[in-house]
Amino acid sequence: MRPYEQLLQNNRIWSAEKMAQDPHYFDELAKEQTPEFLWIGCSDSRVPANEVTQTEPGEIFVHRNIANMVVHTDVNMLSVLQYAVQVLKVPHVIVCGHYGCGGVKAALTRKHIGIVNKWLRNIKDIYRLHETELEAIEDENMKVDRLTELNVQEQIMNLAKTSIIQESWHKHQRPTLHGWIYDLHTGLIKEIINMDYTTKLDDIYMIDFD
Ligand code: CO
Repeated sequence: MRPYEQLLQNNRIWSAEKMAQDPHYFDELAKEQTPEFLWIGCSDSRVPANEVTQTEPGEIFVHRNIANMVVHTDVNMLSVLQYAVQVLKVPHVIVCGHYGCGGVKAALTRKHIGIVNKWLRNIKDIYRLHETELEAIEDENMKVDRLTELNVQEQIMNLAKTSIIQESWHKHQRPTLHGWIYDLHTGLIKEIINMDYTTKLDDIYMIDFD
């Protein structure tokens, strides 16, 4: 059997198992989705949103890209965010990074790896923002780990800077933003930062809605 045929076979088995447990499972799911969470995570195959949180289809709205970035000109991310916040009305948005992130590691090198370099430039900018702290860390792995944490923190702040989040905070006092890090070695998630509608950003980023 070819590897992709295995996937299709697994799918048929999974579907049959779900139907055996509950004959209405797919009919109910097909009616509508009402997830409470938007997950912005890394594309890394080792950090699947549903698996690591033990959630079922329908529970998490997911957006993934290299190094779990929130780039304010990324129409793909913004569309997902707007739909999740304005239409699905999710009360929680999670940015989940992970230790050992290849994207963060690559951002610390001088390698030319094509278009990915343009994406990772955003992480190099975070490095420059926290240069004093990061330069003081001698161990390379610890430096990558700290940059991974700072990256999640910055992406949460990038979310807070968007008009989508600020308008929703102003009108509905939601969503709460959660910055998490997943540890590949333990399978455990650590909380790094939380932000909600009471957060005061630097004045220069604040938008008036009245
Ligand atoms: Co990664």
